[in-house]
Amino acid sequence: MKVLANDGISQSGVDALKSKGFEVITTKVAQEQLENYINENKIDALLVRSATKVRKDLIDACPSLKLIGRGGVGMDNIDVAYAKEKGLHVINTPAASSASVAELVFAHLYGGVRYLYDANRNMPLEGESKFGQLKKAYAAGTELRGKTLGIIGIGRIGQETAKIALGVGMKVVAFDPFIENVNIELNFFDGQKLNFNIETVSKEEVLKQADFLTLHVPAQKEYVLGKKEFGLMKDGIGIVNAARGGVIDEVALVDALDSNKVAFAGIDVFENEPTPAIKVLMHPKISLTPHIGAATGEAQDRIGVELADQIASLLK
Ligand SMILES: NC(=O)c1ccc[n+]([C@@H]2O[C@H](COP(=O)([O-])OP(=O)(O)OC[C@H]3O[C@@H](n4cnc5c(N)ncnc54)[C@H](O)[C@@H]3O)[C@@H](O)[C@H]2O)c1
Repeated sequence: MKVLANDGISQSGVDALKSKGFEVITTKVAQEQLENYINENKIDALLVRSATKVRKDLIDACPSLKLIGRGGVGMDNIDVAYAKEKGLHVINTPAASSASVAELVFAHLYGGVRYLYDANRNMPLEGESKFGQLKKAYAAGTELRGKTLGIIGIGRIGQETAKIALGVGMKVVAFDPFIENVNIELNFFDGQKLNFNIETVSKEEVLKQADFLTLHVPAQKEYVLGKKEFGLMKDGIGIVNAARGGVIDEVALVDALDSNKVAFAGIDVFENEPTPAIKVLMHPKISLTPHIGAATGEAQDRIGVELADQIASLLK
């Protein structure tokens, strides 16, 4: 059986598929040539990330396809319901990247409380001539230990983020309209375990208590954080969005940063991806990454192996 991994797949995923008897093709076929390629090569399974679109017309035009797999979480680029209606398997790997996204949240938070996002911009320009001034400018750092992290959306990634927060000595408060409480198990290197029960509270309560706030919700119709919500927060809060562009109102965020309501923001996902607003990109108080939450070797390995296991159990 043939698997076309059109947006790439980790070597461990390729190895796992090959060991289960699949032929794996990692050629990147352009969207408009995909139909021909799949039909000429009688592809059984098409694997994508977020780039390749798998819409109704492609599904209809490619009768050899038995499975569509998405390495990662969101399946907005796939007509999932239609594919299932046509008898195709549609799979993804929702848990594989959670820990990597959570670590990126803390990269933004630790960078934020010590001004790394700004120091890294200014040291190359003025580090030689104005070392003393820069040292002063970044002298008011804070620690995360002992502070309160507000988590909005305590699903897979929210829980992984809570684990790190608890591990570094933060208090965690969470809001999730669909979850009343979660058990967070911390696993240590020597086999010790610690369990924490976190009961969710109202969104307002999270906004009121949080020294730092991180969002882990799916794409929404309305902003989760807009002007009204910023008004309810503590002055000088730090905010991270590694969930989805569009869950924070970027205009309200920039206003809140300009008025010092928000001290800094860490942004991995943007309202207008892949061409984010210049005001966001140029803002001196925003720590920026280009949607790389899941982009670690470990997450990509887990994604590849998980896809391979699911494909083998469904198609063999
Ligand atoms: N930055 C990246 O590269 C990257 C990588 C993977 C996932 N993500 C994104 O992270 C987000 C979370 O992923 P996950 O795997 O944790 O999903 P999940 O489904 O496990 O958890 C999402 C949680 O949000 C809750 N929720 C829904 N609407 C809410 C609201 N309005 N307010 C508060 N909570 C709400 C749900 O009840 C659920 O518990 C998704 O948007 C996903 O696309 C980003």
